[in-house]
Amino acid sequence: MKIDFTYYNPTKIHFGKTALEHLSPELANYGETVLLVYGKGSIKKNGLYERIIKILNESGKKVVELAGIKSNPTYEQMLEGARLVRENSVDLILAVGGGSVIDCAKGISVSAYCKGDPWERYWINFEEVDNKIVPVGAVLTMAGTGSEMNGGSVITNEEKKLKNGRVYPANVYPKFSILNPEYTYTVPKYQMSSGIFDTMSHLMEQYFSGDDDNTTDYLIEGVLRSLIHSACIALENPEDYEARSNIMWCAAIGLNTITGLSKEQDWEVHMIEHQVGAYTDCAHGAGLAAISVPYYKYICGCGTNKFVRFAKNVWNIPVDSMTKEEAAAAGIEKLHQFIVKLGLPTSIRELGATEDMLPLIANSTIQGGGYKQMTSEDILKVLKASY
Ligand code: NZQ
Ligand code: ZN
Repeated sequence: MKIDFTYYNPTKIHFGKTALEHLSPELANYGETVLLVYGKGSIKKNGLYERIIKILNESGKKVVELAGIKSNPTYEQMLEGARLVRENSVDLILAVGGGSVIDCAKGISVSAYCKGDPWERYWINFEEVDNKIVPVGAVLTMAGTGSEMNGGSVITNEEKKLKNGRVYPANVYPKFSILNPEYTYTVPKYQMSSGIFDTMSHLMEQYFSGDDDNTTDYLIEGVLRSLIHSACIALENPEDYEARSNIMWCAAIGLNTITGLSKEQDWEVHMIEHQVGAYTDCAHGAGLAAISVPYYKYICGCGTNKFVRFAKNVWNIPVDSMTKEEAAAAGIEKLHQFIVKLGLPTSIRELGATEDMLPLIANSTIQGGGYKQMTSEDILKVLKASY
């Protein structure tokens, strides 16, 4: 653990089949008015909406609603939520949904009382938030992003064709998150796989950098093994509680910053995906799946030892009888096979990308990287290989 760190995660997690019982006592900590934020209708279909409304009513809350949050939440919807918060003097924003809904809630939280244009100030210039922050609580319905236990808020500005993420400090994290794995049973299989791969990608983004002897890398390998194991079970039986609960907790751990402590990190797959998403509006995890294998093949030669370790410790490949290059390639091939097993795309063409978009995506992608500092030319090559 060579890099110094301060670790603080203030989100209180209520996990399991009885988790929703904690909503009422949590609500008691906040004032009268709640902004209920949710997506395009899944919570109405599966009955969760009615249960939440009942609890809110019994708790004596005045409820204002913001419905229809899109996957890849938009800046426009976020501003609409900010307006509702100001007009109704909202005391708590309650997000019920997946990462898009929770990200949007956090965006509303920092933007409602922002002096000036929140997009420019907070998502482009990364200014410190100097205004009142409205508390956010979450009821998670889809596992993947880790938004339930972090300060991330990824928003799409449709007008500017930019999907930008910002990690806000601890005062923007959800104050509490309710995680009942049973709520994820109704997630369509493609979305379940997309969420699983998103978590996997978070873990790999943190893993593929640095060659020091770091406890965090061992932790990541363990979480990846558990995730892959449970994913295979959930693919066969989506209502296997143990598998779905493991997946849900892997997702929270995968991006609550504990699996990034004292580590250099990569995140270039995410940077590329965000711009693929801005152009195609694809599901986030599906975009990551299509980019990951070409990206890792591209950078593998710059961090071969770690890719060998990935092959051995995550995929149980007997690497001793192989050259380093063969072992590294075998690990990436296993990753490819897993993506196919999840039923996710292996090319961005399948997600609606067209050839003329590739340079536009490459030029608008934030450049970074772990083992290799990526330029827009490098990114274009990865996009072509992903196409
Ligand atoms: O909108 P509804 O009707 O709720 O349907 C959603 C949506 O269509 C559906 N769904 C969710 N729970 C369901 C369900 N359907 C049936 N039953 C349920 N229980 O699933 C679809 C996808 O939901 P969404 O919230 O968009 O997915 P996800 O959780 O993958 O969130 C994606 C967003 O999070 C951002 C992504 O970029 C993307 O914008 N990310 C946020 C991060 C963070 N805050 O730290 C990090 C990630 O890397 C990611 O960038
Ligand atoms: Zn992600």
